Amino acid sequence: MGSVSTTYSVKDDSTLMKTASDLAITSRPATLEDAHFVWIVNNHPTVRSQSLRTGDIPWGTHIEWYRTQLGRSDCGFRIGLERNDRVGVARFDVADGHATISIAISPEHRGRGVGRRLIQLVTVEALARPDVRMAIAYTRPANHASRRAFLHGQYRLAGQSDLAGVTMMRFERTKDDPQ
Ligand SMILES: CC(C)(COP(=O)(O)OP(=O)(O)OC[C@H]1O[C@@H](n2cnc3c(N)ncnc32)[C@H](O)[C@@H]1OP(=O)(O)O)[C@@H](O)C(=O)NCCC(=O)NCCS
Repeated sequence: MGSVSTTYSVKDDSTLMKTASDLAITSRPATLEDAHFVWIVNNHPTVRSQSLRTGDIPWGTHIEWYRTQLGRSDCGFRIGLERNDRVGVARFDVADGHATISIAISPEHRGRGVGRRLIQLVTVEALARPDVRMAIAYTRPANHASRRAFLHGQYRLAGQSDLAGVTMMRFERTKDDPQ
């Protein structure tokens, strides 16, 4: 295996931040043991505010929904890891040849390239499925971090969509786009 060079950028006077390409981010399938972690991440106010349904999610609602998602063959549910630490959640729902991807990073791990890396991992996994020809993501227009993260992941802006009365920006990436 080749060696990985490590470069650093100065974030402020006291902090050295590794560049995104050096992050040791992997993902694994979500399990029932991740139910509480997923709830905490998805229920954070900054995640709710960027979602279609912005309300708080009660635990009972979450655990019922989560069990259902884990049992679905048309749903990919992944936990993002930095070494052994859980740092985020990624999910895709498959319908009509499209995998609709959503992602949320734990607040303390944002702004370091984790989102970009996890989008890359989950997109490659979704597009590898024979029943998927396009990956899609929706973000609110003011969600600059999300927009930039998907553009960085070789998605292209494909216009706006009205989802349940909410205007969302639609991003697309197909199997033929560069990996
Ligand atoms: C959106 C989200 C997934 C991005 O993950 P992240 O790890 O914070 O983002 P990254 O560090 O990988 O950075 C991604 C891009 O956003 C930019 N960015 C990061 N934080 C930002 C901020 N607060 N404001 C504007 N841009 C920001 C980065 O510079 C980077 O852009 P670049 O590739 O052009 O340099 C994460 O912020 C999050 O979980 N937000 C809440 C949930 C959400 O909005 N999900 C998206 C809807 S599917």
